[in-house]
Amino acid sequence: MTTGTQTSVAVLGAGPVGRALVDGLHRAGRTVRVGVRSPDDAKYQDLDAAIEVVTIEAAVAASDVTILAVPADALGSVLSTTSFEPGHIVIDACNAVFTAMPEGFDSIGDFVASRLGPGVGFVKAFNTIGAEHLGNGAFDDGRAFLPIAGDPLAVEAATELATMLGFDAVALGGRDVIGMVEDHARLWIHLAFRCGWGRDFGFTRVQR
Ligand SMILES: NC(=O)c1ccc[n+]([C@@H]2O[C@H](COP(=O)([O-])OP(=O)(O)OC[C@H]3O[C@@H](n4cnc5c(N)ncnc54)[C@H](OP(=O)(O)O)[C@@H]3O)[C@@H](O)[C@H]2O)c1
Repeated sequence: MTTGTQTSVAVLGAGPVGRALVDGLHRAGRTVRVGVRSPDDAKYQDLDAAIEVVTIEAAVAASDVTILAVPADALGSVLSTTSFEPGHIVIDACNAVFTAMPEGFDSIGDFVASRLGPGVGFVKAFNTIGAEHLGNGAFDDGRAFLPIAGDPLAVEAATELATMLGFDAVALGGRDVIGMVEDHARLWIHLAFRCGWGRDFGFTRVQR
């Protein structure tokens, strides 16, 4: 896998998360494809005409990096019908919000990582802030903090994409701290909904 400006990205799912990432990456000049179950569905016609909407298999096969942006309970079926070549990088943006964790796993990311073949890079990212912000992490008060964890090369690739999208991308470490990224998402969701902050915020870093 090459990181850098030539890296092409498949985004699986065209809900709020998939669309925000696709739009942001396309605006930033990155080659990006949307992978969905029914690419001919009229509901994808509002996407920029330059963005290819294809099957999940075709999107993955034509890309270096794949971002998973589907409901957590769809991951089992998506991953069982998709094969990633060694060297491919898989970025998991999914959260278990209204669904239980897969049996035997403490995090969605651990489940996804367990389904990938040898040599496929895994990283957890883009799950810790509302979808409407994912295409642009630059707020008036600074760049929103975006924690990332996983395999080193995959963290590097996700960091590059997140930085390109305006985020303060922060590498937390390897697969052992994937759960921490999901905890951060739970904190954002808690503040947004239980504490009444609403969705229009991100976290920023302050330092002395
Ligand atoms: N919404 C947020 O603010 C937010 C923020 C961060 C992370 N997340 C996480 O990111 C993920 C995506 O969120 P979202 O709000 O964009 O989700 P969503 O609107 O519920 O779904 C996104 C896409 O998933 C596809 N999909 C559903 N079931 C599928 C299946 N069995 N196989 C293949 N594709 C399937 C849908 O395709 P069809 O059009 O074909 O049905 C849709 O395009 C979720 O795991 C969520 O927890 C959400």
